[in-house]
Amino acid sequence: MSWVAAALITLGAFLYAFGGMWVRTSAMKAAYDERVTANRAPALEPVFVVPVPGCVCHSDDAVVQAEHSRFRIRECGRCHA
Ligand code: HEC
Repeated sequence: MSWVAAALITLGAFLYAFGGMWVRTSAMKAAYDERVTANRAPALEPVFVVPVPGCVCHSDDAVVQAEHSRFRIRECGRCHA
């Protein structure tokens, strides 16, 4: 039984360190890319984030979506108390 607990803790720590949200739809991603093309938003460097299943950004704002898809769970507290 203890190996199950150990596996869960390891998985939790891994997702905390690298897990993050995913952009809800590819249309929202395209909306952000359009702004980048029009020079109205900065191009975002790709960041290593493991999308957590079911952990989607619920905002309707393409910019918030694009930015938040690059944050890992351990970084949320930097801006959100
Ligand atoms: C760099 C700072 C920063 C980090 C890191 C950050 N956020 Fe945010 N977040 C913001 C700001 C700024 C807004 C408000 C944007 C707006 O309302 O236009 C916001 C808005 C939100 C909202 C509300 C969206 C809406 O439209 O109602 C949620 C939910 C949220 N963040 C969750 C998270 C989670 C979960 C993480 C970690 C994966 C995270 N944030 C990391 C800055 C940040």
